[in-house]
Amino acid sequence: MKLGVNVDHVATLRQARGTGYPDPVVGAMLAEYAGCDSIVMHLREDRRHIQDRDIALVKEAVKTPFNLEMSINKEIVDIALNLKPHQVTLVPEKRRELTTEGGLDLVKGYKRIGRAVERLKDKGIGVSLFIDPQERQIEKAKKMGVDIVEINTGKFSQAKSAPVKRKELKKIKGAVKAADKSGLFVAAGHGLDYENVKEIIKIKEIEELNIGHSIICRAVFVGIISAVEEMINLIR
Ligand code: PXP
Repeated sequence: MKLGVNVDHVATLRQARGTGYPDPVVGAMLAEYAGCDSIVMHLREDRRHIQDRDIALVKEAVKTPFNLEMSINKEIVDIALNLKPHQVTLVPEKRRELTTEGGLDLVKGYKRIGRAVERLKDKGIGVSLFIDPQERQIEKAKKMGVDIVEINTGKFSQAKSAPVKRKELKKIKGAVKAADKSGLFVAAGHGLDYENVKEIIKIKEIEELNIGHSIICRAVFVGIISAVEEMINLIR
């Protein structure tokens, strides 16, 4: 199971004061040094954390695959087509949300999302779709011709009671197995931390976890290298 580290919240700290530090590109290089398998940045339409210069610099600076998270907004897709990151992960985006609130609806948005997927794949960029743990989403992802899906663990992570947690975990397990069976590379993420990840890593078919907030929060106290190493040790 691989680990992708999302460094958006290094940029959140920087943007809080409009300073030039801390630099998420340095964060990405240190996460790579600590042994993570890929670097993730989300270029949001409102540029609340990651900026255009960050994705341009990180693409040059890191050797591990760069996974650009983004919406299917035309301006953002054009930026990705120009930059040509190793991979993009398409996510839904709402202006007022604190963080991504759910997966893409591939049933409703099949045509619009499909067009973005086609443009990105034509440029040789790997495309992953962030979806909720539902079989109908997996069927559509497969039909759309992507190779990777990322299963949303957000509801599981936020569950306040044991029964809800169990129910959400069951949904994730079912979706992961269905996606794996249909030949998709299966990633998972959202809201994972050093505690709740222990249940998720038991699901053998998950090939990659993408984790951001909890790692960067721990890094404030112990440094990013230790925070990333600790997560890698849990996973391995
Ligand atoms: N995966 C996806 C698709 C996301 O949108 C995010 C948040 O940017 C993450 C993983 C990481 O989530 P978190 O910061 O809660 O670990």
